[in-house]
Amino acid sequence: MNNESAAEDIVKRRAIFYRSFGIYAEVGGFYDYGPIGLRIKRKIEEAWRKLFPEGMGLLEVETSIVLPEVVLKASGHLATFTDPVGVCGSCHTSYRLDKLLEEYYEANGDGEGLGGVKKLKLNDLAARISSVGIKCSKCGGSIGNPENFNLMFKTQIGQKGTEIAYLRPETAQGIFVDFKDIYRAYGLKLPCGISQVGKVFRNEISPRQQLVRVREFTQMETEIFIDKEAGFGSFGGVDFKKIEAERISFARRGEEEGSEYTIRSLLDDGSIPNEYFAILLYKEKELVDLLGIGKERYRFRQLEKEELPHYSMGNIDLEVKTSYGYIEVAGNAHRSDYDLSSHAKLSGEDLSVLSNEKKVLPHVIEASIGVDRLLFSVIDGAVRDDGRGWKLLALNSSVAPYEYAVFPLQKDDGLIKKAKEIHEGLGARRICSFYAEAGSIGKRYARADEIGIPNAITVDFDTLKDGTVTIRDRDSSKQVRKSIDELLRAT
Ligand code: ATP
Ligand code: GLY
Repeated sequence: MNNESAAEDIVKRRAIFYRSFGIYAEVGGFYDYGPIGLRIKRKIEEAWRKLFPEGMGLLEVETSIVLPEVVLKASGHLATFTDPVGVCGSCHTSYRLDKLLEEYYEANGDGEGLGGVKKLKLNDLAARISSVGIKCSKCGGSIGNPENFNLMFKTQIGQKGTEIAYLRPETAQGIFVDFKDIYRAYGLKLPCGISQVGKVFRNEISPRQQLVRVREFTQMETEIFIDKEAGFGSFGGVDFKKIEAERISFARRGEEEGSEYTIRSLLDDGSIPNEYFAILLYKEKELVDLLGIGKERYRFRQLEKEELPHYSMGNIDLEVKTSYGYIEVAGNAHRSDYDLSSHAKLSGEDLSVLSNEKKVLPHVIEASIGVDRLLFSVIDGAVRDDGRGWKLLALNSSVAPYEYAVFPLQKDDGLIKKAKEIHEGLGARRICSFYAEAGSIGKRYARADEIGIPNAITVDFDTLKDGTVTIRDRDSSKQVRKSIDELLRAT
């Protein structure tokens, strides 16, 4: 495993994202997005919105980040949202035991050992760490005192602080708690879906690998509510015949690598629990394709029983290969009626709804996608070094921070005036472009390439005579001449 990701240098120099509170003592696991990173992040969220809530005709909501304890008691997070942790007996550094052991087996090329980690419980993990001789990486001390550590950030509501609350660890709970109100207010019928994008918080034991494991991140979640007794008809305006014939890379339980299967065959052998689940996987495939994550870089993986979250009857993760190996970018779960029935019990509210003239407590199929890990995967896979003296980010237009850069060839009043006119003309067409006049044109091309802008428009002295500009393609660095009118008409 590399310690550096391919794009680390560009990410740092261009402040695409960076450690929060950098001028103070280091607190790990928090990242800020700079202007370029933020634009890419928003584009990912927009692509998701077009494919998921808007693309499937679902509703989108925004619910509270602070959740009173009772919500998380009902959801099971209070009791079970834990990771196995161990502490160095000498310097007191904390380690997440399963990840520590996985790294050890990975470094030793022990696939069998690696595959078995997911099945080990807390004390077995600690015993294995001791028996293979893993020590504290900081001081060489022994790692002991294993415990299941709850990952939620605790807080209190009100001046007296008697009401305990937590920052939400997933956006989904807000959707479950509000489900019946939304169902009624919008006259929904089963099956139906509700989505949410927003910040979530997990007090990770060992935040690492840039955006891959952080303590504050953004999820894009979709919950599909179904009547489990009703057969599948259609959902989300998708052509199911097309979806079932689609081939995806999929690792079934017990398989280390992904192989190509049709979605139909995975439904038939029970690897994908039902058609709604299949639709969500297909939509995720569409999303990563749109973001430019090549087919060879991602796979779906059915989780082992021991890996399932407390609420899940079955999970399939979407994993992308990055400089840090495969990382999970989306978790898809069959949550059954786990959440709605627990909230109904604890709140005393009947959360069942009428479906085909009978009362039904819906079952839930969920797609939970992490924006930050997706953004990291996109950037990590887009770095190209084609010998021009700097690296470039070959981002798809769908995620490029800007479609166009606009440059005057040099600092000349006439060129600057014309270049600004084009920059503003694009703005008037709702196309936000990147304008820069400082530095040599070569340096500005390098900067545009590094932040992944596909096209650079340059205004030179011919522009002032004949109204044409050069348009330079980021990937080939070839330039063509076009009239400004033609360029603006095409946008
Ligand atoms: P992991 O096993 O890597 O800790 P998880 O199984 O806890 O991940 P989920 O609970 O399924 O992850 O969360 C849904 C999605 O939220 C993940 O697929 C991922 O994209 C994102 N996510 C979860 N934890 C983090 C984190 N600490 N930092 C960044 N993104 C995260
Ligand atoms: N909503 C799924 C998760 O965050 O784990």
